[in-house]
Amino acid sequence: MSHAAAFPAPARATAAVAARATDLSKVYGQGETQVVALDQVSVEFGRARFTAIMGPSGSGKSTLMHCMAGLDSISSGSALIGDTELTGLNDKKLTQLRRDKIGFIF
Ligand SMILES: Nc1ncnc2c1ncn2[C@@H]1O[C@H](COP(=O)(O)OP(=O)(O)OP(=O)(O)O)[C@@H](O)[C@H]1O
Ligand SMILES: [Mg+2]
Repeated sequence: MSHAAAFPAPARATAAVAARATDLSKVYGQGETQVVALDQVSVEFGRARFTAIMGPSGSGKSTLMHCMAGLDSISSGSALIGDTELTGLNDKKLTQLRRDKIGFIF
């Protein structure tokens, strides 16, 4: 998934943004087996809105969700829940944030 993918228009005000990724990249593996799953993706999810992410199998939808929910580490860029930058959090704070702010239905 690249930043050129079509996403909803950014929310107007920072307060209306529930989660944000900026230039988010995720690379799995290295060398010949390296996979760039996310290539500098920037996206905002508005508060109190439903947002759908669509794309072919393997385009990085699940990776984006995992990274933005703090379930997986990111390679570069940033991911925020509200005003909280995920990369700066230790395991305990990350666990608290996931428990209090994020829900997944598989
Ligand atoms: N743990 C992993 N190790 C190595 N590569 C991975 C890993 N997880 C995902 N990938 C690769 O990253 C890319 C994005 O995968 P991802 O699962 O995010 O796609 P997806 O859009 O959710 O696909 P699907 O629609 O099939 O669920 C793919 O090339 C996939 O093979
Ligand atoms: Mg998936």
